[in-house]
Amino acid sequence: MARDNDPMPQSHEFDVLIIGSGAAGLTVALNLPEHLSVCVVSKADISSGATLWAQGGIAAVLDDEDSLENHIRDTLDAGAGLCHEDAVRFTVENGKKSINWLIDSGVDFTRDEHAQYHLTREGGHSHRRIIHAADATGHAVSTTLAAQAQAKTNITLFSGRVAVDLITNRKLSLPGNRCVGAYILNLTDNHVELVRARFTVVATGGASKAYRYTTNPDGASGDGIAMAWRAGCRVANMEFNQFHPTCLYHPHAKSFLITEAVRGEGGVLKLPDGTRFMDRFDKRGELAPRDIVARAIDHEMKRLGADHLYLDISHKPADFIKHHFPTIYEKCLEFGIDVTREPIPVVPAAHYTCGGIVSDERARTDINQLYAVGEAAFTGLHGANRMASNSLLECLVYGQAAAADIARREADIPPPPPVPDWDESQVRDSDEDVVISHNWDELRHFMWDYVGIVRTTKRLQRAKHRVDLLSREIGEFYSNYRVTNDLLELRNLVTVSDLIICSALQRRESRGLHYTLDYPGLQNEPQDTVLFPTTYRTLSP
Ligand code: FAD
Ligand code: SIN
Repeated sequence: MARDNDPMPQSHEFDVLIIGSGAAGLTVALNLPEHLSVCVVSKADISSGATLWAQGGIAAVLDDEDSLENHIRDTLDAGAGLCHEDAVRFTVENGKKSINWLIDSGVDFTRDEHAQYHLTREGGHSHRRIIHAADATGHAVSTTLAAQAQAKTNITLFSGRVAVDLITNRKLSLPGNRCVGAYILNLTDNHVELVRARFTVVATGGASKAYRYTTNPDGASGDGIAMAWRAGCRVANMEFNQFHPTCLYHPHAKSFLITEAVRGEGGVLKLPDGTRFMDRFDKRGELAPRDIVARAIDHEMKRLGADHLYLDISHKPADFIKHHFPTIYEKCLEFGIDVTREPIPVVPAAHYTCGGIVSDERARTDINQLYAVGEAAFTGLHGANRMASNSLLECLVYGQAAAADIARREADIPPPPPVPDWDESQVRDSDEDVVISHNWDELRHFMWDYVGIVRTTKRLQRAKHRVDLLSREIGEFYSNYRVTNDLLELRNLVTVSDLIICSALQRRESRGLHYTLDYPGLQNEPQDTVLFPTTYRTLSP
């Protein structure tokens, strides 16, 4: 029976281990055949990932005036020449089916006055095609899927558990290239448990916590990407970390996003003196793709020496604003900002990891029986810049594809081999946790300053130098001390930051989200940046 927070035996075996309980992980879990035993692991409670916080909605072609070709073209345009067209087509063509699955699962999307689903607009989209639940779509999706998973007898939910590392045949010195489960830290008693599985799915979300300012919740430390890299998977396009243009700027507001749908419904960006400026940067104005808007804001802030700019929707009727953006209205009011009467102070913040673990149309990775889904994966969909609201769609489409592939293959896959328990005999408790908190701050500061919206080779080299030092220090710490969540997250953040910096140094052009003053132009042939773990062995602690 599905239970949350039951004590897990030190060692356990399931048919499928899913690491992550966001839209990606739960979509896989809920689409698997019910005769398979499934374990879903999450760091904090089941709804603690980025999915819960998604605001704007989910992009899909649901309106007769729109077409699949329009959605495909917009996605390719936003991706600045680097999207894989087959992945875009696959995702867009499966959009409606995925939304219908959510509706059948019980997600209550907002309807208009004619009882039709209301579709909003966001940057890069040429049509209204974002289905949403007011401005709290992620909450509706996350809580609905979590309730469904809790009701399934074949799904066991383990929250408060942190995957430490994947276990592969290679690590066990066995023949073959297979993943057989993971070591998992139980945060209740701080012991590492063993979960063996015939199939393992990485659905751990993104890595935006590598940056000092982010819209992401705690826990977005790129764990799955780092674990898969250590296990031997290729990782691609990590230089394309997306900065959302409009995060609320207030000393007491931690990571609160102001959805792009505010601009989709008429919100305008303004300088401190009240003038609009986006038309100077792109003819689509406020609805240009995100990379362009974030760069324009960054440029104007630097030019004026301003801490923030403004997003203004106060010209719209108050009822309209409260109806469409109730969460934003309430949250801003908590900070003394009445969005129906005044502009909202905003800054860009790290938001989304476009790169990730290289995976195919069935969500398979380079290691047999290991899948990657959602923000942790690189499918080729987003190219050099993800179009708004294509991310939840990707979680759904590839989550279903992974489940279908596992269902197709499961009869042929034998149980995992025996695996030794986690060995703690050589380590002790840390007496210097300050090293972790200090390094955590240092990393996120220099990533923001040197590997942010506008880059130069010199800044990237500085960052590389620092990340190498941190990598050695954390590697040593990891070898000597008992693991904790903070140590694991820092170790993973150091690895993903290194992957971001190395990818950025390799790209000698400015494309999409990667903008460098040293190479302002475009190369003729768009190419992914694919890192191979065998070549970059020294990267990981
Ligand atoms: P997540 O939802 O982040 O879930 C990750 C899961 O993995 C969590 O359960 C976490 O606990 C678990 N986990 C991580 N590491 C470990 C570990 N080591 N061990 C065990 N468990 C682990 N996209 C859209 O398409 N539309 C939107 O409107 C939208 N709005 C957004 C608003 C905000 C504020 C943010 C931050 C993002 C938004 N996005 C939006 C992006 C989108 O929400 C995410 O890309 C998407 O939810 C990622 O889903 P996921 O399942 O891959 O990961
Ligand atoms: C937003 O609502 O602005 C976020 C949408 C997204 O990240 O896709």
